[in-house]
Amino acid sequence: MISPFCAMVPVCFLLAILPLSLAASNQLGCSLNFGDDFRYTAVNNLNIYRQIVANGTAPNKCGSLPAAKNMYKLFYNCDLESKAYAYTSSCGSSSVPSNSMNYMTMSSAPWTGTAASNILTIFQTHLNAIVTNGAPANVAFSGNSALSGWNSYVTGTKTAVGCAVNPSCTYSNPSFPYMMVVACVFDTPAASTGNPSYEVGTKCAADSDCTTYMGSTCDTTTGLCQYQFVDSGANTLCPGSTAGWTDAQRNLMLQWHNQLRSSLAQGKEKDGGSYASTYAPGSKTMTQMAYNCSVEINAVNNANGCDFAHTTSAQRPGMGENLYMSSDVNQPEATAAAAAPQAWWSELPDYGFGPDLNLTSAQFNRIAPAQIGHYTQMAWQETTTVGCAIKHCPTGTMNGVVTPMTYVVCQYYPAGNYLNQNIYVKSTQLGCATNADCGAGRTCNTVNKLCVV
Ligand SMILES: *[C@@H]1O[C@H](CO)[C@@H](O)[C@H](O)[C@H]1NC(C)=O
Ligand SMILES: *[C@@H]1O[C@H](CO)[C@@H](O)[C@H](O)[C@H]1NC(C)=O
Ligand SMILES: *[C@@H]1O[C@H](CO)[C@@H](O)[C@H](O)[C@H]1NC(C)=O
Repeated sequence: MISPFCAMVPVCFLLAILPLSLAASNQLGCSLNFGDDFRYTAVNNLNIYRQIVANGTAPNKCGSLPAAKNMYKLFYNCDLESKAYAYTSSCGSSSVPSNSMNYMTMSSAPWTGTAASNILTIFQTHLNAIVTNGAPANVAFSGNSALSGWNSYVTGTKTAVGCAVNPSCTYSNPSFPYMMVVACVFDTPAASTGNPSYEVGTKCAADSDCTTYMGSTCDTTTGLCQYQFVDSGANTLCPGSTAGWTDAQRNLMLQWHNQLRSSLAQGKEKDGGSYASTYAPGSKTMTQMAYNCSVEINAVNNANGCDFAHTTSAQRPGMGENLYMSSDVNQPEATAAAAAPQAWWSELPDYGFGPDLNLTSAQFNRIAPAQIGHYTQMAWQETTTVGCAIKHCPTGTMNGVVTPMTYVVCQYYPAGNYLNQNIYVKSTQLGCATNADCGAGRTCNTVNKLCVV
């Protein structure tokens, strides 16, 4: 038996302290005094590594790691830095905003050099671990704690990071006289055990290759996708509502619904299950959803109860309802606004519906986990408005069991999921082209090819 050649010695493939000319400046506008040399060193080196991974040229134990699609560029974020600092300034004894969003290292090594050189040493250690341990072809995260840092750095969906260091933590234990604590906090969680750390595929060459976040662009020089969620904090769309969203977050939620409906109408959504080699039928009459504050205010009643359960139909007259939870109690609102609709919609590629769009009781009452009711509500053509609420529930419940969670409730008006009706009217024409396609009183949005009610 011939063994493949495998790297036996960790290779040094990073990294440089960048860019020294900015050492004294504070272009990033963060209030802590780490200095921008530290910040740029952290974010630029993580991006260089992500670029090499996307390109398919980062070393694995044997050969290279597979190339990546939807690998997002990280932007430095001062709020995340503050969260990291809260942790490092307590020498690691404070609770952290969310374990799944963070990466922390404590070291008994004596502190030498600068903040920038120390964080590079930490990165290098974590990145060498993949060369020692190796990743499988599907880059599923094994859960090996030696690879947690690497997994955190390459999780493709992350878009922002902030880091902090504390060189002067002293433990009472005299055998640990020098202790540095380094922490980076990211905007989205690292891939969980068993799930791929990133999407294996080809690095982006065009904006349309970047599909994780709406409105993403491709940086063609690096092959990294870019997405910067801009949220002014304005909250005027739904006066008096306590739904937990800002207007930007509401719009993100709405845009996800409409992007998926637009893609479906244009015949671009993969079917699944026994129809996995086909695409769901297209439609020229699919409608564009609008945000509905009355629906949102009704959804608040469920979300604030922190009990993961559907409301009765009397509690939501004429409205449908989809529920989502993350075990991350502090899941950021913007993350939830993107994750919830994608999770519901994933029933289509995961379980499939087929070319006959009739929602029969056999289709609707499938055995768990093959149920598709969240997808069919999202895709229901005659549901034209949506409103949602979010609640962080540290003592939430599910089926009577305490279940800490972030809880998202979307309700829909008019309700969908009527048995023995078609989810939508299919057509060979993919998306509307003219107002006439949409029928009386409706107009065609020729950009997303959805009908505006
Ligand atoms: C990307 O990969 C090609 C080979 O496929 C290599 O020539 C090039 O140097 C790589 N670029 C980076 C930035 O790693
Ligand atoms: C918004 O939802 C309410 C029900 O909660 C409904 O009465 C109203 O007509 C909806 N608005 C639109 C524009 O559909
Ligand atoms: C859906 O199937 C049911 C049961 O076969 C049938 O009664 C109903 O008319 C069908 N609906 C449509 C829209 O075809």
